[in-house]
Amino acid sequence: MTDFSTRPAEERDLAAIVSIYNYAVENSHATFDLEPPDLDYWRARLDGNHPGDHLLVAVDAHDDVVGYAYSWSYRPRPAYDLTRETSIYVDRRYRGHGIGRVLYPALMDAMTESGVHTAVALIAMPNPASEKLHLHCGFEKVGQMKEVGYKFNEWIDVAWYQRLF
Ligand SMILES: CC(C)(COP(=O)(O)OP(=O)(O)OC[C@H]1O[C@@H](n2cnc3c(N)ncnc32)[C@H](O)[C@@H]1OP(=O)(O)O)[C@@H](O)C(=O)NCCC(=O)NCCS
Repeated sequence: MTDFSTRPAEERDLAAIVSIYNYAVENSHATFDLEPPDLDYWRARLDGNHPGDHLLVAVDAHDDVVGYAYSWSYRPRPAYDLTRETSIYVDRRYRGHGIGRVLYPALMDAMTESGVHTAVALIAMPNPASEKLHLHCGFEKVGQMKEVGYKFNEWIDVAWYQRLF
């Protein structure tokens, strides 16, 4: 897998994004969702008009989606306005081929251009690939909460990562 690029997501990408995420919901503790969210959840991210919110996809040479990343509200109270929470998922068949290292920096660039001050990412432990990717993209680990998630019959720690722009 060498020929891929990034671009803003479009309506036609939502089915692939949903498929990537729903696989993680059902098979991974990377997300604490226990049931797949409905399409409105993704439409909101696609249509988000806050200047710091972006939904990007990584696509292969056929323009098929192999991963997505987005920035979104960290918390709704207005003093958090320039702090956005980020997320990234790569299709399981394409992980470990450098897609995250292209897609996440593209998201960082979009956030920089729209004036975001701080990015926050929560990483369910263990997740060495995600931790390395965040460090690679300028995040630092600022803490870890013990046993705040419960999925697949086990308690899960969550690490907090932050990047200042
Ligand atoms: C985390 C994820 C987005 C990384 O994307 P990716 O395209 O697989 O990662 P890349 O190939 O770009 O590699 C990124 C870094 O992770 C490392 N890495 C990749 N796969 C790894 C693995 N299985 N174990 C350990 N490190 C790994 C790479 O060496 C690279 O490190 P470096 O920057 O220090 O060289 C992807 O694995 C994924 O979608 N995982 C499931 C969902 C998830 O956990 N999302 C993040 C939620 S916080």
